Amino acid sequence: MERQNLIIAITGASGAIYAGRLLHSIPGDSHAVHLVASEAGRLVYEMEMGRPLAADLPSGIRTYDSSDFTAPFASGSFPCAGMAIVPCTMGTLGAIASGLSQNLIHRAADVCLKERRPLVLVPRETPLNRIHLSNMLRASEAGAIILPAMPGYYHNPARVEDLADFIVARILEQFGIPQNIVPPWEGPGYGK
Ligand SMILES: Cc1cc2nc3c(=O)[nH]c(=O)nc-3n(C[C@H](O)[C@H](O)[C@H](O)COP(=O)(O)O)c2cc1C
Repeated sequence: MERQNLIIAITGASGAIYAGRLLHSIPGDSHAVHLVASEAGRLVYEMEMGRPLAADLPSGIRTYDSSDFTAPFASGSFPCAGMAIVPCTMGTLGAIASGLSQNLIHRAADVCLKERRPLVLVPRETPLNRIHLSNMLRASEAGAIILPAMPGYYHNPARVEDLADFIVARILEQFGIPQNIVPPWEGPGYGK
């Protein structure tokens, strides 16, 4: 079976761990990952993870500069399974909600919306102001999936990684990628 293209973007919100663990959870035999990080995304990644993003990438991932509008996925003609922005800043959310294609991340998101492809936004901010909330609604009404970085606790997380994996599992499910990181809820006694 031919591999599906999947776009992953990293922006400069806190929560680099979500991106790092997601990249290592996407099966390379079924999906070809195209990665673009904003300048702030690279900065925050290094601050939070203690190493540059480039040092953390699984093999086989294609990377793009956020100013590279010649990237294949800047066009709707490039076949792809969709895009996830993990984590997603309020700035990038606002640009997407307003249709401002000022960098490759905004443009690729815009393309996903116009082509009716899954666009998963993983915002990380608290508290939320009215502009944030309104932008989430606008993006959702345009077809985006708002998947906040709000891990559950019912899987009995013991480590920070377990919390991050809860969100990673939810993201994978949005693209129909089978995951056994966090098993489905089975009722009381689950995870014990
Ligand atoms: C350590 C650090 C943490 C940040 N966390 C957040 C955050 O959680 N959410 C957010 O919207 N912006 C956050 N920011 C601010 C964004 O990085 C900043 O607004 C940047 O311009 C976003 O650009 P981008 O959307 O192109 O990545 C953070 C910045 C730093 C330095």
